Amino acid sequence: MHVAKLLACLIGTSSISVTAQSLSPGEGIILAIDSVTFLSQDNLERAQNLTEENALEIGGEIVQGFGAIVKTVTGALSNVTILKFPSVIPDVDQHAICNSFRSFILIHQQLLSIVIGEKSILSATPFTAPLGTVLRSLEGVVDTFAFAVINLVPGCSAHAIQLNAYLSPTLSQAAVTFP
Ligand SMILES: *[C@@H]1O[C@H](CO)[C@@H](O)[C@H](O)[C@H]1NC(C)=O
Ligand SMILES: *[C@@H]1O[C@H](CO)[C@@H](O)[C@H](O)[C@H]1NC(C)=O
Repeated sequence: MHVAKLLACLIGTSSISVTAQSLSPGEGIILAIDSVTFLSQDNLERAQNLTEENALEIGGEIVQGFGAIVKTVTGALSNVTILKFPSVIPDVDQHAICNSFRSFILIHQQLLSIVIGEKSILSATPFTAPLGTVLRSLEGVVDTFAFAVINLVPGCSAHAIQLNAYLSPTLSQAAVTFP
């Protein structure tokens, strides 16, 4: 997938010569966003594999996958908050950030829609309560992260706000699907 390749490329080079300090603000923010998208894509593939027969195995993996996503979004949030931004991020970087944010939103939207759609399968497993807990954490942290990103991209914030408004109700719905 495009996101996975981009991430592999960024990580590949960063381990040798590019440190966090030498990433441009745009690259640092994109890396933070894409690290999350990469994990969400993984969890999406797991969720797509879910069936009644494998629910006991895959259900647990999905819960773990969401746990990893929450942890990475939390790290991503602190990274985009502590990175030293110039007062204005160059327009071209802002647009690259918005593109990356778009994938972030769309993949979360797909992932959560599948998980909500598989409510009856997942609710028949012992993972209902842990899934509910992790989805409620996800709602809070993704919402905060989305607004942190939106604040950094005045040049395309209208689009970013629109994308977030698309995901937000799905996040809320996911958070109440597994009580
Ligand atoms: C946050 O920054 C640290 C230090 O540069 C880096 O190792 C980590 O991968 C980053 N995490 C995210 C999610 O961007
Ligand atoms: C999904 O199922 C396919 C086919 O069984 C398997 O190859 C793949 O590894 C699974 N993916 C995940 C993320 O579980």
